[in-house]
Amino acid sequence: MPLRRKKAPAPEQVGPKPKGTGKITTRPGSRHAAVLGVGAYRPRRVVDNHEICEVLDSTDEWIRERSGIITRHFAGEGESVIDMAEAAAKGAIEMAGIAPEQIGCVIVATVTHPYQTPAAGPLLAVRIGADGAAAFDISAACAGYCHGVALASDMVRGGTTEYALVVGVERLSDFTDPTDRGTAFIFADGAGAAVIGPSETEGIGPTIWGSDGSQWDVIAQRDSWLEVRDQDLGWPAIVMQGQTVFRWAVWGMAPVAKRALDAAGVKIEDLDAFIPHQANMRIIDAMAKQLKLPEDVVIARDIATTGNTSAASVPLATERLIREGLAPRGGLALQLGFGAGLSYAAQVIRLP
Ligand SMILES: CC(C)(COP(=O)(O)OP(=O)(O)OC[C@H]1O[C@@H](n2cnc3c(N)ncnc32)[C@H](O)[C@@H]1OP(=O)(O)O)[C@@H](O)C(=O)NCCC(=O)NCCS
Repeated sequence: MPLRRKKAPAPEQVGPKPKGTGKITTRPGSRHAAVLGVGAYRPRRVVDNHEICEVLDSTDEWIRERSGIITRHFAGEGESVIDMAEAAAKGAIEMAGIAPEQIGCVIVATVTHPYQTPAAGPLLAVRIGADGAAAFDISAACAGYCHGVALASDMVRGGTTEYALVVGVERLSDFTDPTDRGTAFIFADGAGAAVIGPSETEGIGPTIWGSDGSQWDVIAQRDSWLEVRDQDLGWPAIVMQGQTVFRWAVWGMAPVAKRALDAAGVKIEDLDAFIPHQANMRIIDAMAKQLKLPEDVVIARDIATTGNTSAASVPLATERLIREGLAPRGGLALQLGFGAGLSYAAQVIRLP
């Protein structure tokens, strides 16, 4: 008889039982996301070029010709970034037809909230009745709103939240040197907002975004807070190398717009509206020319009476196109934000 080996005893379990077999579950998101509502707030105070030129060495004629700006709005005394954001957010929530408490995430795009911390988002969430929602700010300057739309739509599709509020808001008059010939006639105040939520069909195309940090000083706060403190430099306004920005925007951003169209599978002739950041009317015109936009595509030109409101400019312009009936509800729009960073983000959206 062959010798049978005795089965070796099982080694004694040493240490804690391995737990790697536990499973993580996820929340299913919505298959599609869409902009469900937009809102806007333009401060009551209208400032014309003559008033700007009371301090700035310039003329109404020069400002109109070089920037296309005729008037802009400045926030009133004590009217904060959060006050303006609240007004715009309420409009967006109303158009979306949801209750504020359904908003699970509040994203505020701004570079002019005057507190290093806390962010504007949590206080805005309380103000609008979205108590307890996740809330934070993003700093991507004039591209901030389109960055926010990218985050929000991915959150809705990923199941992180059902509804998100994205607000672009600026009180740039606080951060502008009224004697600076490169910025004083451009920057303005205001807020625009959008509610992003689930949809039966796709309402937000893929985001084409990026940055070029090698040009971070082209549009920038003049001095860091530390330099301001240590060198007694006075208030650090935002300054800009106008011609460099102009060239980057005109030559660099048209290809980004084209990529956003391609990514969404939308032909330029199928667009109802083009909503670029309202930086300068000449930049808007040059971009439209480069893109060879068909004549029947409406171009947002809100800058003429709203000025350049950085993160607020795209949602402000969007709201105007819809409110004034210049672009159809449910139509396709290409939106494109670009600015300090340098940063940019573009996507095709279906208008609410
Ligand atoms: C800022 C901007 C309007 C300046 O226009 P520009 O045509 O580049 O002006 P320049 O700096 O070349 O100056 C042209 C002339 O105007 C004069 N000038 C400059 N600023 C002026 C002002 N505010 N008022 C009157 N004259 C002015 C200059 O002295 C110069 O005069 P000269 O020809 O006698 O030397 C333009 O560069 C611009 O729009 N850049 C993009 C800025 C932008 O959109 N930023 C937002 C991105 S987020």
